[in-house]
Amino acid sequence: MFGAELSEVYDLVYSSRGQDFAAEAALVTELVRARRQQVASLLDVGCGTGEHLRCLRGSIDRLEGVDLSTAMVSVARAKLPGVPLHVADMCQLDLGRRFDAVISLSTAVAYLPSVEAMGQAVARMAAHLNPAGVLVVEPWYFPETFLAGHIAADIIRGADRTISRVSRTERLDRAARIDSHYVIAHADGIRHFSESQVFGVWTRAEYQAAFQRAGCTVEYLPQVQSGRGLFVGQLR
Ligand SMILES: C[S@@+](CC[C@H](N)C(=O)[O-])C[C@H]1O[C@@H](n2cnc3c(N)ncnc32)[C@H](O)[C@@H]1O
Repeated sequence: MFGAELSEVYDLVYSSRGQDFAAEAALVTELVRARRQQVASLLDVGCGTGEHLRCLRGSIDRLEGVDLSTAMVSVARAKLPGVPLHVADMCQLDLGRRFDAVISLSTAVAYLPSVEAMGQAVARMAAHLNPAGVLVVEPWYFPETFLAGHIAADIIRGADRTISRVSRTERLDRAARIDSHYVIAHADGIRHFSESQVFGVWTRAEYQAAFQRAGCTVEYLPQVQSGRGLFVGQLR
């Protein structure tokens, strides 16, 4: 998952499919600042290609990111010189520093293999918060909002390539698999790759319990982030 082929086209594919990284970064900044006066540092967990961090530059002094995929982190490093970016598993995270805010967007936590692992990751994120620090986590769909058998198709036109992407979702037990196929046409040839990603389908109560066990308050904001919503908590 999130190897070199997907990392290379990730920003183009997701921005063309309507993801507005700048608006999401602005929303997170607003949510964090509404809860904590001083926000001088922020850690992005599952930062991927670093688009949110890039948009947060200039509004928050000290930024850091962490992601499991070396390929995603190397795309992020190229665009964020001077920003510390680490390759690490969020369930084992231990940077030895704390932040005013920790965020995890685009459902990075839902790639974890179990609800227990999600709880562990939320605990590690909370362990990186300063007192009264703010934690923002974007969940994946809940059992009642997940749509099994959903198929999607996109044609994405970049400056030097055209990408066709089709995908379908399948419900597993407490998870769902999304199979995506990409065909990429460049001037010098056409190539194809596919990705299979498994997401945990966990309940709203399970996410909320993870925040509470980690010592944080928690509220759920529905409707934002393409309807997946956001959990926002604060270290007690
Ligand atoms: C859909 S991408 C989102 C990336 C970024 N947050 C964004 O909004 O563009 C999910 C990211 O979570 C990362 N990820 C998945 N499991 C992880 C783990 N156990 N620890 C850290 N990162 C993980 C993946 O490598 C991937 O970059």
